[in-house]
Order: sequence, then structure tokens, then C-alpha cells
Amino acid sequence: MNKFQEVQHHLALHSYHWLVTGAAGFIGSNLVEALLKLNQRVTGLDNFATGHRHNLEQVKDSVTEGAWMKFNFIEGDIRNPADCARACEGVDFVLHQAALGSVSRSIDNPALTNAVNIDGFLNMLVAARDAGVKRFVYAASSSTYGDHPALPKVEDRIGKPLSPYAVTKYVNELYADVFGRTYGTEAIGLRYFNVFGPRQDPHGAYAAVIPQWVSALIRNQPLRINGDGETSRDFCYIDNVVQANLLAATADKEAAGQVYNIALGDRTTLNQLYGMMRSLLAERYAHVAGHEPQYVDFRRGDVRHSQADIGKAAALLGYQPTHRIGEGLKQAMDWYVRNLPQ
Ligand SMILES: NC(=O)c1ccc[n+]([C@@H]2O[C@H](COP(=O)([O-])OP(=O)(O)OC[C@H]3O[C@@H](n4cnc5c(N)ncnc54)[C@H](O)[C@@H]3O)[C@@H](O)[C@H]2O)c1
Repeated sequence: MNKFQEVQHHLALHSYHWLVTGAAGFIGSNLVEALLKLNQRVTGLDNFATGHRHNLEQVKDSVTEGAWMKFNFIEGDIRNPADCARACEGVDFVLHQAALGSVSRSIDNPALTNAVNIDGFLNMLVAARDAGVKRFVYAASSSTYGDHPALPKVEDRIGKPLSPYAVTKYVNELYADVFGRTYGTEAIGLRYFNVFGPRQDPHGAYAAVIPQWVSALIRNQPLRINGDGETSRDFCYIDNVVQANLLAATADKEAAGQVYNIALGDRTTLNQLYGMMRSLLAERYAHVAGHEPQYVDFRRGDVRHSQADIGKAAALLGYQPTHRIGEGLKQAMDWYVRNLPQ
């Protein structure tokens, strides 16, 4: 049995109370689903800023009635300390996902991103400390590597942030570290690298690349690649991220007070990604085979290459990604084909 199987086995026999913030979002709703399927009690907190009620409806449809009865949803805002305190009542583990994502959004509106991602984060840390939770696991980001040129990225070698979003995610790490030292709060930051999968939002100006492209390909709309397409990312399927959160929450105390890269440890260029997505969708939609992308300017604040070293998460958390990019894309495409209104 590997570490994750052990944790799943343990959770199937022991019920804990979890708080998932950002529960109506992409990653949060997948965490809620996984926890309910393991018979856990879950509180969700979200203000629907970028998340959707239909994500929670989908979770409801995918779990048993008994499991759904163990879910309690609070519509609230992490910028409001009282909402955070209420959500943390009686909670064992916090999986803090609520934030405003997107580098571009943070460049357009740095104050809003700051208020949610820094003030909101601090409110959550204070509430978790006051409630005496066992562990505070939070969504950190690969954007923290900023302008550091080394590849693959190793946790303790970071550069200067390249966007307001990256500043907020780095400040989260600093606060979590200080709370560990001054109040003994056991926090673990998971630096996600380009996560993708079911329920990632394809709509809006700040949509992530995979859902944006899948929507454009299926609808035969123009699709833009920023730069020459040789920009690369370490794309990580959602199931790997769910695994990392459950491992981090239940890991030994020695693993706390640290940050971990959560990715595959691989690098895929945007041109390669486009090719893989086009082939997968061309099996179902004849028009996709002839689709060609448009190349436009590089985006401000974008890092050129990104690839994680996942050795630390493997060694200290027992993290072993189960889905390579090809398998993940196939599952994600299946979901978009079923769920994207055409
Ligand atoms: N998706 C990725 O590739 C990626 C990469 C690195 C880090 N992250 C981080 O992972 C977390 C989850 O991202 P996601 O991709 O699921 O995005 P998402 O937008 O789907 O989910 C974020 C959720 O937080 C909620 N939220 C926003 N502001 C809130 C507020 N003030 N109060 C309460 N809820 C609020 C939103 O409504 C949404 O449901 C974020 O912290 C993000 O920064 C994501």
C-alpha cells in the first residue's frame, strides 16, 4: 500500500471535520467531492466570486445521499473575519483554496487581489488558530518562483515576483511560516503548477488556458497562443492535487511549516499542449482537425518556462502523481464534451 492508499484507508475508517474554502470553485469542489466520497464531514465556504453553484450541484449528483448530508455550505467572504470564524468552528483540517486566481486579473486590479488573497488569507489563518485546528493546508503557487531562472524549480530557490498575484501568494507563505513560529499553527503550503481538470471554468477573460482552448476548439472559434508557443508549463491533473491535499493534512508534524511543489515534474510547451488537445477532440468533432491557432503577443507577468522538482513532496508527504498529462487531458476532455453547452 502506498502512502495515499494508507491515508484513504484511514479516512474511510475515521471521520473528521474538514473546511474547504473556495468550495464552489474548480479545485475546492473536487476536494469536497473526494472527501465526501471518503465519508468525511465537510464544511464549504465560498462567496461565488468566481465559483459556481452548479459545481456544488455536480458534487451532489456524484455522491450518495448519505454523503451529501455530511456537507454544510456557508455562503460567506474570507474578507469578513466573522465568516472565517464561523466556518472554522469544530474543524479538524482546513484546506484553504479561496482566492482570486489569474496573473492578468491581478495586473488589472491589484487592490482586489490583495484584499482577497492577503487580508482574506490572514483572516483564515487567525480563525484557524483560534479554533485550534489540527492542520492548515493552503493553495500556494508556482508563480512564487518569479524571475528565478533555474529549472526544475526547487522549493527554496525563488526569485522576484512578476505580478501582484505572485506577491500575494508569496505573502501567504510568509504569514503561514510566521504563524507556525509564533502560535504553533501547523501550516503546509502546496505550490500548485497549472492545475487542470473537470469543473475548471472555461468562461471569462481570466479563464485558464486548457478550458479556454477546449471551449474554442469545440465551438470552432479563434484560439490565441501568447508568444511563439514555446512557453512551457508543468500541467498537473486535479486528482494529483486532491492527493497532495489529503497527504498534507494527515502528514506527520515534521512535514508541517513547509511548502511543497505539486505538479508532475514534466514540461509541456503550449504548442505541444495545443497538438494534444486538437488530436483528442478531433476524434469527436471533425472540424477540429483543421483548426489552427493564432499567435499573439507574449502576456505581461508570464514566466517563460516552468517545471517542478517534486522530490520534496515525494519524500516528505509520500506524493506520487497518478495521472500524467495525457491521461489527465483525456479525462478532462471527456468532462468538457459532456458539460460544455454547445
Ligand atoms: N488552478 C491553478 O492552476 C492554480 C495554480 C496555482 C494556485 N492555484 C490556487 O488554487 C486555489 C483554487 O484555485 P481554482 O483554480 O480552483 O480557482 P477558482 O476560481 O475556481 O476557485 C476559487 C474559489 O474561491 C472563491 N472565492 C474567491 N474570493 C472569495 C472570497 N473573498 N471569499 C470566499 N470565497 C472566495 C471563488 O468563488 C471560487 O469558488 C486558489 O488559491 C488559486 O490561487 C490554482
